[in-house]
Amino acid sequence: MSNISVNSLVKKFGAVTAVDGISFSVEPGEVFGFLGPNGAGKSTTISILCTLLAPTSGRASVGGFDCVRDADAVRRSIGIIFQDPTLDNGLTAFENLLFHAYLYGLDRRAARKRIDDALSLVGLDGRKNELVRKFSGGMKRRLEIARGILNYPKVLFMDEPTIGLDPQTRNLIWEFIRELKKNTGVTVFMTTHYLEEAEFCDRIAIIDLGKIIASGTPSELKAGLQGDTLKLSAADPKGLESEIREKFGMDSKINDGGITLTVKRGDEILPALIRGLSTKITAVSMTTPTLNDVFLSLTGKNIREEGSDPYGPMRSYARKNHGGH
Ligand SMILES: Nc1ncnc2c1ncn2[C@@H]1O[C@H](COP(=O)(O)OP(=O)(O)OP(=O)(O)O)[C@@H](O)[C@H]1O
Ligand SMILES: [Mg+2]
Repeated sequence: MSNISVNSLVKKFGAVTAVDGISFSVEPGEVFGFLGPNGAGKSTTISILCTLLAPTSGRASVGGFDCVRDADAVRRSIGIIFQDPTLDNGLTAFENLLFHAYLYGLDRRAARKRIDDALSLVGLDGRKNELVRKFSGGMKRRLEIARGILNYPKVLFMDEPTIGLDPQTRNLIWEFIRELKKNTGVTVFMTTHYLEEAEFCDRIAIIDLGKIIASGTPSELKAGLQGDTLKLSAADPKGLESEIREKFGMDSKINDGGITLTVKRGDEILPALIRGLSTKITAVSMTTPTLNDVFLSLTGKNIREEGSDPYGPMRSYARKNHGGH
């Protein structure tokens, strides 16, 4: 039986359809990734699965329990790491976890044991009695992961677990996730903007504007592209797009300053294209598929939208944790 099962799920906020009829399932022990740009509907989906939001229509179940009818049972089966940090900076690492353990009804002895195990799994055993205020962003995220697994969840939800962290800390967190999966067999549902991270998932679904536009293993999705991605830059991308369609019968996608084209043998087609086109080409590149190419070929845009500030989340993360108290 699937650990997460979602059927024609819809969530509307007034005129905005945040989740637009998605269906998928996640099997026990899988690491399943939800990949999509800002506003795609990732956090909304997690909120529904974690019973924090009611769906507008459709069904969702987690651990075999319906997210609406059996919300209490769902809550007992899951751990959550929210997109926005939720630790109490004025408490120690231990106190943060103890508070959480009490919420789950653990007695002090059981709580101590589980807290020690969880802290050691994320490599924070030596920092147990330090105030969280003194922790780095990466340490805080690790502490939140420790908190998320205290109740031995069947399914662990992680909304952007690594956002705003440096690549080294992100790798560390990935190691913990793999350890966790190996040692506890927990099912992980996570969201990310980072395409490199989606490669670590057993399966991913690509979500855009509330719809799942592709799903499968990372290599299945890349294989679906059947070949290489050519990018041609030109002052007149529209003209280029129509010339390629007319002369070569190939569809290309217009994007920032040029076009993108997916072909089986880029090395053969590229010279022919350049010889045959009259539109002035200013730059050319060819790449073998990455997940970003999958996204680009499906939506015509990069997963990080133009003008987005990759450090924006880090700045707001720093503000929330170090200022204002
Ligand atoms: N409580 C709410 N009220 C109104 N609109 C909302 C609410 N929560 C989300 N939305 C809207 O729903 C859409 C999806 O938002 P959601 O937070 O699920 O996206 P996301 O994929 O998690 O994005 P991000 O990558 O930025 O975290 C957005 O258009 C957002 O503005
Ligand atoms: Mg989100």
